[in-house]
Amino acid sequence: MIQMGSDISLAADLLREGKTVAIPTETVYGLAANALDTAAVAQIFERKQRPAFDPLIIHLAKADSLDKYVADIPEAFEKLYQAFSPGPISYVLPKKAIIPDLLTAGHPTVAVRFPKHPMAQDLLSRLDFPLAAPSANIFGKVSPTTAQHVADQFEDQLPYILDGGPASIGLESTIIDLSQEQPIVLRLGGLSLEEIESVLGHPIAYTKSSSSNPKAPGMLSAHYSPGIPLVHGNLDLNLAKVNRQRCGSISLCRKVAGIPEEQQRILSETGDLKEAASKLFAALRSFKHSEVDVILAEEFPNEGLGRAINDRLRRASVS
Ligand code: TXA
Ligand code: MG
Repeated sequence: MIQMGSDISLAADLLREGKTVAIPTETVYGLAANALDTAAVAQIFERKQRPAFDPLIIHLAKADSLDKYVADIPEAFEKLYQAFSPGPISYVLPKKAIIPDLLTAGHPTVAVRFPKHPMAQDLLSRLDFPLAAPSANIFGKVSPTTAQHVADQFEDQLPYILDGGPASIGLESTIIDLSQEQPIVLRLGGLSLEEIESVLGHPIAYTKSSSSNPKAPGMLSAHYSPGIPLVHGNLDLNLAKVNRQRCGSISLCRKVAGIPEEQQRILSETGDLKEAASKLFAALRSFKHSEVDVILAEEFPNEGLGRAINDRLRRASVS
């Protein structure tokens, strides 16, 4: 049986010993270890079966010790940090030598995040090192939004899962690269583009995920695999091609005629994209033991968190 509970001091002790512990954040659960300890970082890659080219994010409670880890703190960081941290945004900044090259997959930059979840804040403030933490799933699978999701994947491979309840945001952080002259969003996530633009005062570019995008290492197209074929796009067009009895659906608020009700996942009755985002990953997992041959997911509105939801669904549809 895997050890799971809310003992922050036990989690802190294990992390000080160089162990890997699953921790809650408001975005998704993370697989955490001491970011400054190369052996501990190597263990994360191994546990997650993650390729070495895919860099990790470091987590800190707040920015007061940031200059120990990054070489330059641009003005855009100050503005965004004031507005959104702690919260669902990660900043890519030039790294200092203290950050292991293994962690950044050899890149001269490091992604830094300040999670808002009270347990993550409490844990990080007890430690004198940052935590490296990718999402606590096997590489390529759906990110976990509850402690039980983590336990289901890792069984007895982890000494402890710190249980902080269901993740309130449910999508990974938005990643913004501030190491170049022009800020660029590398991954859409729990903070919308519109919110970032309103603070920076100008439109901001973002890169679409692809299998060979050197700007966003690890942003592979085929990711978030629910284990069942998923088709993303216009529901009405796709419905015409399937047997509705053997079909699952994921929609914002509409009911889909002909698909059995227990195979439908309506993510927000009121059409609220934040609520929908928080339920997306659990919905993707929920078909695992069902009789469904294919999942049809609708195209969500391309605004606010709808953009990140479409990004995850598009990647879940590539096998
Ligand atoms: O919400 C989150 O960000 C969660 C929680 C646990 O904090 N973490 C997370 O980590 O989603 P992960 O490892 O699953 O995704 C991190 C992604 C990498 O795949 C890569 O695309 C990007 O962050 N990344 C990390 N460091 C980078 C760097 N130096 N340059 C560009 N992209 C980087
Ligand atoms: Mg991940």
